[in-house]
Amino acid sequence: MLPFLVFSAALLSPAWSQLSPADIAIVAQRLAEGATQSWELGTRAEALIELNATDFSVFSQVPPPTSATSALGPVFSIAHNVVAALKNSSGPASLVSGDGAAGDPAAIGVAVLLANWTGQGSGRVDGLDYAGAAANEVDYLLNVAPRTSDGAISHRAAQVQLWSDNVYMVPPFLAYYGVLTSNTSLITAAYDQIKLYRNYLRDSKSDNLWKHIVLGNNTTDGGNDEGHWSTGNGWAAAGMLRVLATMKNSPFSKSFSSQQKDLASWVKEIHSAMFANIDSTNIFTNYADQPITTSGMFYDTASTCLIAATVYRLSLISNDHTHLPNAEKCRLALFATKASNTSTSSSRISQSASTSSSAAPSASASAASLANLVHFTSDGWLTPVVNPDQFGIEGQQSPEGAAFVLELQAAYSEWVAGGSVGANTGSRTEASTAWIAAAIIFSLFFYA
Ligand SMILES: *[C@@H]1O[C@H](CO)[C@@H](O)[C@H](O)[C@H]1NC(C)=O
Ligand SMILES: *[C@@H]1O[C@H](CO)[C@@H](O)[C@H](O)[C@H]1NC(C)=O
Ligand SMILES: *[C@@H]1O[C@H](CO)[C@@H](O)[C@H](O)[C@H]1NC(C)=O
Ligand SMILES: *[C@@H]1O[C@H](CO)[C@@H](O)[C@H](O)[C@H]1NC(C)=O
Ligand SMILES: *[C@@H]1O[C@H](CO)[C@@H](O)[C@H](O)[C@H]1NC(C)=O
Ligand SMILES: *[C@@H]1O[C@H](CO)[C@@H](O)[C@H](O)[C@H]1NC(C)=O
Ligand SMILES: *[C@@H]1O[C@H](CO)[C@@H](O)[C@H](O)[C@H]1NC(C)=O
Repeated sequence: MLPFLVFSAALLSPAWSQLSPADIAIVAQRLAEGATQSWELGTRAEALIELNATDFSVFSQVPPPTSATSALGPVFSIAHNVVAALKNSSGPASLVSGDGAAGDPAAIGVAVLLANWTGQGSGRVDGLDYAGAAANEVDYLLNVAPRTSDGAISHRAAQVQLWSDNVYMVPPFLAYYGVLTSNTSLITAAYDQIKLYRNYLRDSKSDNLWKHIVLGNNTTDGGNDEGHWSTGNGWAAAGMLRVLATMKNSPFSKSFSSQQKDLASWVKEIHSAMFANIDSTNIFTNYADQPITTSGMFYDTASTCLIAATVYRLSLISNDHTHLPNAEKCRLALFATKASNTSTSSSRISQSASTSSSAAPSASASAASLANLVHFTSDGWLTPVVNPDQFGIEGQQSPEGAAFVLELQAAYSEWVAGGSVGANTGSRTEASTAWIAAAIIFSLFFYA
């Protein structure tokens, strides 16, 4: 009996399901060490809120609670350091002065608003004027940052240039500010910016993948990139979802129902475009429609994490599960162990999905240490990844990639906690049957 029991347990225990809490802590530590640029700080704050302070996430409720929790500590540190460094407290001002990007500093805006909302400033905790800094950032975006003739706010400060990255940095801040101050014109502005960006960047000639960078002729300021950068498609989908969630989970949801429908369909449009191009590794290439055989092309696990996270989010928020099987394949490829570095069959995939029945990262994950994972270095960096500072080349350590791991963990955990709705039904039944069998074996063993 015993050998059979051991054999069954080995068969049923997924060695590739998700990261353990210890692994997540290591990835979060790498992110803390690595995030220094404006967009990295904002993305880190967002990832920590989504993973560890879920009540304060736009995927829960907007406005958030007014009483802070200790998990927000690192988020407040980011807001504190940024606002404390501001020299001029009046008039339009970017949250990070001298940033070449008009859009990236806005990514920190949600953390700043949260610091205000929970009373971290204004004479109470550190005396900083968080609300004023956020207001100046809004003022800067609406009245100072350059724009296209039809109103799209430039992602760069020195010229009008639109980057897909912007959709993650600017609209979620505008929408959040709008809800917290009951200013619906700012919620509308968030939506309008996304609509404008989509008009410029969506490439109907390439499955509706989004281009990375358009407009602008200042070659010393970034240069163009009409390629379909995978991370950029992820930024766009994730930013749209945050705006959708901000609307939906706010008191203004009813007034923005048609906008929410649009946003959901635009997120799905990106999913359909991306997954139409993924190869059998289930990891995106750096430019989704460029096969790995293209000269200079490489696989990028960072964008794969972000896109997969947005699939679980869309499933939760819009009940659209179309691309869940694809996201599950990505997740299993991302967290594959070296021992199980073989092609993943669909039954393995669904077994792993349905056996992880709790939101707690620890509950059912085998605690594979990062060193055993194909796509992590032993010290916890995702690999391979695009260089976060040079989008065309492969890099080594990606802070944004680390944030995307946390966002994937957060989204996946919430999806599992919600009952894994939309997972492949046929195979789930098969896996449940296996678990019932395992339970019977266990009880027989203990009664013996
Ligand atoms: C989550 O928050 C708790 C409480 O502050 C903290 O101990 C833990 O390190 C945080 N986890 C991560 C991954 O940041
Ligand atoms: C602060 O910035 C505003 C707007 O840019 C400007 O009008 C004002 O003179 C500045 N104040 C100081 C003290 O530098
Ligand atoms: C700042 O927080 C206060 C509540 O403490 C709130 O009334 C105000 O609207 C907030 N300001 C912004 C810009 O969110
Ligand atoms: C909403 O925000 C915009 C931009 O800051 C501002 O011009 C407008 O007066 C605000 N509306 C209300 C009702 O506060
Ligand atoms: C870019 O084009 C604009 C308008 O066509 C022009 O004013 C500007 O000088 C150009 N900039 C560069 C760097 O060529
Ligand atoms: C081009 O960009 C650089 C770097 O951001 C900036 O210093 C310069 O003023 C810009 N030139 C023009 C003509 O816009
Ligand atoms: C996993 O498999 C791929 C493709 O067969 C191979 O290139 C890679 O080296 C393997 N990785 C490990 C850690 O065995």
